[in-house]
Amino acid sequence: MKLFTLSLHLLALEVQLARAAPKPQNPSKGELYFLQDNPTGSSVVSLSIGRDGKLSEPRHTSTGGKGFGIAGANGQLVPAGLHSQDALAIDYPWLLTLNSGSNTVSLFEIPENDPSRPVLAGKPVSTAGEYPNTVALSAKHRLACVANSGAVPGVQCYSISKQGRLEPLGKLKPLKVDEPTPPPAAAGTVSDILFNPSQTAIFVTVKGDGSNNNTTPGYIYVYPLINGVPSDHPVISRPTQLHADFALTFISDRRAVIADTTFGAAFLDITPNYKVSVSRVIDVAGQMATCWIKYVPAYDLVFLGDGGVADITVLDATRENIKYVIPLPATSGGSFDFAFVGNYLYTRKGNSAVSVIDLSGSEKRIPKLIELYNTSSLGAAADFNGMAVLTY
Ligand SMILES: *[C@@H]1O[C@H](CO)[C@@H](O)[C@H](O)[C@H]1NC(C)=O
Ligand SMILES: *[C@@H]1O[C@H](CO)[C@@H](O)[C@H](O)[C@H]1NC(C)=O
Repeated sequence: MKLFTLSLHLLALEVQLARAAPKPQNPSKGELYFLQDNPTGSSVVSLSIGRDGKLSEPRHTSTGGKGFGIAGANGQLVPAGLHSQDALAIDYPWLLTLNSGSNTVSLFEIPENDPSRPVLAGKPVSTAGEYPNTVALSAKHRLACVANSGAVPGVQCYSISKQGRLEPLGKLKPLKVDEPTPPPAAAGTVSDILFNPSQTAIFVTVKGDGSNNNTTPGYIYVYPLINGVPSDHPVISRPTQLHADFALTFISDRRAVIADTTFGAAFLDITPNYKVSVSRVIDVAGQMATCWIKYVPAYDLVFLGDGGVADITVLDATRENIKYVIPLPATSGGSFDFAFVGNYLYTRKGNSAVSVIDLSGSEKRIPKLIELYNTSSLGAAADFNGMAVLTY
């Protein structure tokens, strides 16, 4: 009996150890995608991910639309900046992205035998608004949504037909955005649209308009799904602690973390009725523009990307505090958008690279940079938006 109890204790210990040291499986192969939102014609850029996490074989696939350019100093068109997360979304076999200058969305089907060459599923479809800057996608509900952030703002959703085409679902759902097309700066624009983990609702974040010395609260809209269709009656929360509600990442249906460019990040509580409140504010010292955020469940860590700071700040999701900062070369520029697969975390860097970080052991020590894949030959880093991965 004693022996039996002991072995049960050992078993419990083993389970605890297994929990303390997660070992995500690295896939045999993967593909990384981001949007090149270009005023002269946009593309999906795809890169192969090797077993070692490293990147190779870049490829451009036209989206059939274009980005929004504004006149630069010497007359050429320069990108206006999307001020968003999730400009591109993947839910196999679909890939969805936007054309900010054409006011359209592009749906692709990813071929099983060659994921590096997504195939456009019909022509790009109108977003029913202006300046689309973020998209959400659910293969389970055959549902796609886009948020417009310019002079005609709002959320347009689509069902994905049997033939794999986008068909508008209801009308444009209005958002409190008071901006021209294109918006001149980040303040007051839409930041992110995404499903919660159980896909029972769609969340949209909108930054405060910058008034009152950047202390006017932003908006968090939640559209519950009713029989798989997003409601026209959003639940709206405006936590007073949030002033530049930027990107959102979920820990569970009831907890999330949001980036806020005015101070860093905040942990959020979500009620069963989708009311959102701040549970803890995380002030990030020296932050300049904390915009991008990603929760990695295997390590229970939240990664924060700052457009003006090269280093990546990492939060412990259970303790709700800063765990450490991953130092990256200052010359690589800020960090824009995240994606992860297995043990590998990817970030686009402002000075033309994608960083590859090996997360092994990151529950105990600061993870290591294993590659800075230079993207300068693929286009201007300022045109790149969004990021997602597929494993196969
Ligand atoms: C505006 O906010 C900044 C940062 O919080 C503060 O340093 C500054 O004093 C404020 N300015 C005014 C006019 O309140
Ligand atoms: C990538 O290459 C460009 C052009 O050579 C260079 O200016 C840039 O600094 C490189 N980026 C990194 C992170 O090494």
